[in-house]
Amino acid sequence: MTEPTLEIHLTDDDLTAGLRSDARLGLTSTPKTLPPKWFYDARGSRLFEAITELPEYYPTRTERALLDDVVGEIARIAQAEVLVELGAGSAAKTRLLLNALSAEGPLKTYVPQDVSVSALRDAAAQVAAEFPGLAVHGVVSDFTDTLQNLPRGGRRMVAFLGGTIGNLIPSERAEFLAGIQEVLEPGEQLLLGGGLVIDPSVLVPAYDDAAGVTAEFNRNVLYVLNSRLRADFDPELFRHVALWDPDNEWIEMRLEATRELTATVADLDLTVHFDEGEQMRTEISAKFRIEGLTAELDTAGFGVEHVWTDPQSRFALVLAERR
Ligand code: SAH
Ligand code: AVI
Repeated sequence: MTEPTLEIHLTDDDLTAGLRSDARLGLTSTPKTLPPKWFYDARGSRLFEAITELPEYYPTRTERALLDDVVGEIARIAQAEVLVELGAGSAAKTRLLLNALSAEGPLKTYVPQDVSVSALRDAAAQVAAEFPGLAVHGVVSDFTDTLQNLPRGGRRMVAFLGGTIGNLIPSERAEFLAGIQEVLEPGEQLLLGGGLVIDPSVLVPAYDDAAGVTAEFNRNVLYVLNSRLRADFDPELFRHVALWDPDNEWIEMRLEATRELTATVADLDLTVHFDEGEQMRTEISAKFRIEGLTAELDTAGFGVEHVWTDPQSRFALVLAERR
């Protein structure tokens, strides 16, 4: 087995600086808001993995089953020598792709990328052990601003799975897709997983499970503020809220103060006041219609080659070629 390599474009100090700036802006805005990437310290990454096992959280198992069905076809079309995976997390489903691409022949390198160094280190080590002939090169970076750092050379396919594309607001999404288009060569591919608009009676429980794991994942952002910026939020004073916004067609997660409270963020020299019932947005999880998703890809400079959906039309995998 070749030891995986790790390229760090976001150091611990960079992360702290990023959180300082996002927290100063988000906690002083009306309404308050924080970007979802701050969920994912080591504990948050573990909580996300627990979410993927919940009975209510259908996206991961739906995408896995779909991928399992169509991965041979994807590998045949893609003929990738390098698989780059953005927001790879534990790369659990990626094994299906790696097996299929290896069976097709040309795959030489896997490049998992993530903001969570702990998740990335574990995933890279496990994949390297399971695929001894594969070079594994992890990249710690923010996929919204450092795509230029991704390796070049060899026919590449970029995979962005899990529906994480839906965690970007529409303007970020457009910029992100255009950024991928810019770093790819004509003919290289993007494999995109996206959750589809379905009945809110299925969607909402997926983000508000009975066991309270998603609630704890949501509150994790307060633990991250406490440890990284010496804040003193009491996470137990915040209630998890998940609601379906039918106009924007996204799930919105919020944290609601259960009473009037004040917290301090020592490293920012900031005092933050919450009224009783005040809500702070911590994540959107947009769901798509096929026409909308393919139009966004087209605008970004991709030609859609294939769209696959599961039998209940809950999730889509789109293979698109950089024009
Ligand atoms: N792809 C996996 C994990 C999805 S969870 C799956 O399909 O199950 C979302 C992943 O994206 C997490 O591992 C998180 O750490 C990462 N992530 C979130 N925001 C990010 C950002 N701005 N830059 C890089 N990685 C990010
Ligand atoms: C990572 N991302 C696709 C998940 C989602 O479904 O939007 C994050 C998540 N938030 C709550 N549960 C899961």
